[in-house]
Amino acid sequence: MGVMREFNDDPLGFIERLQRDYGDIVWSRFLYVPALFLYHPNEIESVLTTNAKNFRKAMTLRSNFFQRLVGNGLLTSEGEEWKRQRRLSNPAFHRERVASYANTMVDYANRLITNWHEGETRDMHRDMMRLTLEIVVRCLFSADVSHDVDHIGDTLAEMVKPFASQATLKWILNNRLPTPEHIRFHRLARKIDNVVYRIIAERRANGKDEGDLLSMLLAAHDEDGSGMSDQQLRDEVMTLFLAGHETTALTLAWTWYLLGKNPEAEKKFHAELDNVLNDRDATFADLP
Ligand code: HEM
Repeated sequence: MGVMREFNDDPLGFIERLQRDYGDIVWSRFLYVPALFLYHPNEIESVLTTNAKNFRKAMTLRSNFFQRLVGNGLLTSEGEEWKRQRRLSNPAFHRERVASYANTMVDYANRLITNWHEGETRDMHRDMMRLTLEIVVRCLFSADVSHDVDHIGDTLAEMVKPFASQATLKWILNNRLPTPEHIRFHRLARKIDNVVYRIIAERRANGKDEGDLLSMLLAAHDEDGSGMSDQQLRDEVMTLFLAGHETTALTLAWTWYLLGKNPEAEKKFHAELDNVLNDRDATFADLP
């Protein structure tokens, strides 16, 4: 229990302390869940690339909650199934395609800052979560402007809340027992499934490329002409939502935190913004 409490109170401090006290490879345990921390790039490379075939995906990814949420999408699938989904999904991430999502990102960022006022204190984590949520929903379903899509983001955010505290006893129990949270989670999952399946059916019926991620996934075909089933599409949509939302929000929130702590870096950042953008909006071409 001590390990879990320490981790929950200060995850970063805990992870740093383990390395200080025990070195580059540390074994620990969260209740009955074993965890191995690797600190050196060599070991990380070995697990992720050179010896990747010796490893399976994390247990949390195969938990009931996670399976219900993202099914057998890219994040959770393995072996041949993963390979096929990966092949089919690749076009969605072509450079030009990703470039086209950049405008959505800039638009939503601009919209967000119109509500900001000089000198006020803001919860940047919340702002960034909201921002990346709107962006990922728009990049997935750009063309669907129905009322439902506006609510998909909020419903999904509600659903993934339990994952924010996945190392806690409560989460482990929720994953095993039909607690009220568990029942609520499954109700929300059904609600989202209904919306996502409806959008998929509409897209299949009209066959148009709407320029978003869903269109790309729908258009993808293997050499034998087969594409993704409705269930696979649904799983990949949910995977992209989850993979693309919290990761990016946390990266941005930490970026603001670190810039706030490092005035020299902040000065350089602003100088670069002035120099490159000179008050105009950023575009994908500015990235380098
Ligand atoms: C700073 C932001 C991000 C971080 C730190 C991050 C981190 C990761 C990590 C560590 C994995 C490997 C997971 C595993 O196999 O156990 C992963 C996989 C994945 N991520 Fe991200 N990610 C980020 C942004 C995104 C975005 C924006 C998207 C898409 C919209 C995305 C989509 C995916 C997908 C589809 C996979 C599974 C890939 C596969 O196995 O074929 N990620 N990400």
